Amino acid sequence: MSFIYFLGRFHVLVLHVPIGIIIAIVVLEALARREKYRHLEAASPFLWGAAALTAVVTVVLGYFHFAEGSFGSASGVQHRTFGTALGVLIAVVAVLRLSKFASNYAPVYFPASLLALLLVLITGHYGGNLTHGSTYLVEYAPQPVRSLAGLGPRRPPITDIAMADPFLDIVAPILRQRCTDCHGTDTTEADLDMTTHAALMRGGETGGTVSVGNPQFSELMNRITLPPEDEAFMPAEGNTPLTPGQVQILEWWIQTGAQTGVTLGESDIEVSAEIEALLNAELGIEG
Ligand code: HEC
Repeated sequence: MSFIYFLGRFHVLVLHVPIGIIIAIVVLEALARREKYRHLEAASPFLWGAAALTAVVTVVLGYFHFAEGSFGSASGVQHRTFGTALGVLIAVVAVLRLSKFASNYAPVYFPASLLALLLVLITGHYGGNLTHGSTYLVEYAPQPVRSLAGLGPRRPPITDIAMADPFLDIVAPILRQRCTDCHGTDTTEADLDMTTHAALMRGGETGGTVSVGNPQFSELMNRITLPPEDEAFMPAEGNTPLTPGQVQILEWWIQTGAQTGVTLGESDIEVSAEIEALLNAELGIEG
């Protein structure tokens, strides 16, 4: 199975080839409708054939990639559906274009290229959700736009750790930086979504992700403190590890009850001088 996964990863590289060809086809079919550029039509069968070949390879690799099992979110399924439809459309048109009856279907090619381009945009949108998360584009949008996408108000900047909510202002940004591309709502490796406090507490498929008050029994701590060359070390696949300070902050957060919904100032969460220095450094506050 791992060889299938190996091939499947090339989906994200190869997909750019048919997209480029489809754009070229749209331009060509649009121009070839004019007398002056009629001669361009000669390249049309070749381009449709090349688009079909590369689109079919992309779709097959896409199914291999999907088999890894972490793309079952709504975005993943939509991406697969529209991508498959695009592959089928291009293949059918290419067969017509390369057949000896090609001229009978002449009015079809330009509208078909526009439809293909539309499918590229839709498929690409859902694919983007898988790699960046569905809120990536609007993260820095004005709040009304963020609200439409289901995002709450951005946290005000923290100028003193007493103002900070230990999850929302300290832990969540660390996880967002290093973990949620794989453990988010769109791509959810091991069924573990770390984008919200509730989801993190629910944990992943093995369970025991965060054992409140017990960093030593928390799978999350276990994974980030293994030797980096260990297969199970997180973040996986050689992604930039947490800094030792960030690891210590996560340990402190779990130890002190994995809290949210309070500020450090209001709560009785213990902040040693060492942790205070780490928090100031992490939040960019002059200590
Ligand atoms: C490149 C993708 C990727 C990144 C980034 C990543 N993980 Fe993972 N994570 C995985 C995969 C794949 C698994 C399932 C395989 C395994 O258990 O090792 C997993 C499993 C886990 C598990 C076990 C969940 C369970 O219940 O089985 C934990 C805990 C975890 N990751 C924590 C983290 C933390 C914390 C970070 C950020 C520091 C992180 N991961 C970053 C891909 C990733």
